[in-house]
Amino acid sequence: MTIRTKLMSMSNPTPCTKPPDMSDTQGRGLYVKTWGCQMNVYDSVRMVDMLRPLGWHPVDAPEAADMIVLNTCHIREKATEKLYSELGRLRADKIASGRKLLVAVTGCVAQAEGDEILRRAPVVDLVVGPQAYHRLPELIARTTREAGLKLVDTDFPVVSKFDLLPQETAGQGAIAMLAVQEGCDKFCSFCVVPYTRGAEASRPAADVLAEAQRLVATGAREITLLGQNVNAYHGTGPDGRTWNLARLLRAVADIEGVTRLRYMTSHPRDMDDELVRAHAEIPALMPFLHLPVQSGSDQILQAMNRQHSAADYLRIVDKLRAARPDLALSSDFIVGHPGETSADFDATLKLVETVGFAAAYSFKYSVRPGTPAASLGMQIEESVKDERLARLQEAIGRGAAAFNQTTVGSVVPVLFDRAGRRPGQMHGRTPWLQAVHVTAPTRLLGQIADVRIDAAHANSVSGTVVTANAVEAA
Ligand code: 5AD
Ligand code: SF4
Repeated sequence: MTIRTKLMSMSNPTPCTKPPDMSDTQGRGLYVKTWGCQMNVYDSVRMVDMLRPLGWHPVDAPEAADMIVLNTCHIREKATEKLYSELGRLRADKIASGRKLLVAVTGCVAQAEGDEILRRAPVVDLVVGPQAYHRLPELIARTTREAGLKLVDTDFPVVSKFDLLPQETAGQGAIAMLAVQEGCDKFCSFCVVPYTRGAEASRPAADVLAEAQRLVATGAREITLLGQNVNAYHGTGPDGRTWNLARLLRAVADIEGVTRLRYMTSHPRDMDDELVRAHAEIPALMPFLHLPVQSGSDQILQAMNRQHSAADYLRIVDKLRAARPDLALSSDFIVGHPGETSADFDATLKLVETVGFAAAYSFKYSVRPGTPAASLGMQIEESVKDERLARLQEAIGRGAAAFNQTTVGSVVPVLFDRAGRRPGQMHGRTPWLQAVHVTAPTRLLGQIADVRIDAAHANSVSGTVVTANAVEAA
């Protein structure tokens, strides 16, 4: 039996705060697999935080789990297809092992496909959209009580899920993420986010500050404020006024123990002068910014409904670099948006050369049903997209290698966040978000130490610790 839950619909906005009786699930294994953006990674952390007090403990392998949560991404077709192949594998495993297993699909595919997931993948018990995962405990309790019951919850509650989540957290270690804003009102032609994550909503600043304090108390040194459109943040401040992102960053930076601060993902349209100034004035704000541009062609930017030109983007980059001369940039690009000519694509290559990105993600345009670009004529052939993607990635790779090379020989503060791949090695991050591999003692975990960069590799750098003791300043 399938039931679409409506407990959090407009007609019944009262949050269910009483934890359901989960005594039958004490000490059970929970495996969460996450696809997609940092917001999904953050949501997965919060789901584990929420389920842990109810007896679900995280396990490292799906075979050891009593419940598997697949937190999904809908941004490109490939991401969606990965979910269905994973579900096929899970079904085969479940049948072969004959064990009891609860399977929940959460995230943006859950939101977009809803009941369709149950039709295509009978192994699934729960389908829960990104705005409804605070109700997972209750949904799990219902489906475990009634064998064969399947539930779908893709409602957008009137109360933000962030207000409904418990506050306990086991922490995320030295490098932590904190969601401050969710959803998007920009409606780029190609993008599903405004439909799967809904309208822009900002968390009250006091909630953000309280969560930042909890993260610091559990060992965080670096915090990244997250949002699909984070620089459109407009939350209510403790003073009753609306705070923008620049104001919020200043307040988070003032919390003792926050040594490093970042934010992502931003839209060029919302990169106002106050935020640019924040890069000059907040020492904790790291000199690295992810600012997607998508294309270097004005015609394509217009077709994408990006609401800015290539020149606007370059002006913002100049302002940012004037405010913070050591700022490095990364970006997102799409090749093969409907109507993209080879001249349009050349303009993208030119923009990449002009800006000199330290890193960038690039994707082939993927048709997303229901988005405006899906019904445009002049779709680009796959082989053309392939060829453009390869050329763009080569240009981006050259820029990234050149950037990494500029850091060789310098001494930079590195925040160590985990053990490295090789024995005796630690992994850390520079202020420019480069991954660093260093032979270093494990006592440096969660600490910042000065490291001389010795060599640049394709996606990382390596170096030597030069301070005898870890220092606390970035
Ligand atoms: N096809 C390809 N890439 C896309 N992105 C978003 N939607 C699509 C799509 N339909 C990319 C954009 C965005 C990043 C998160 O994913 O570059 O910035
Ligand atoms: Fe998608 Fe555009 Fe919103 Fe980014 S700004 S989430 S690309 S609609």
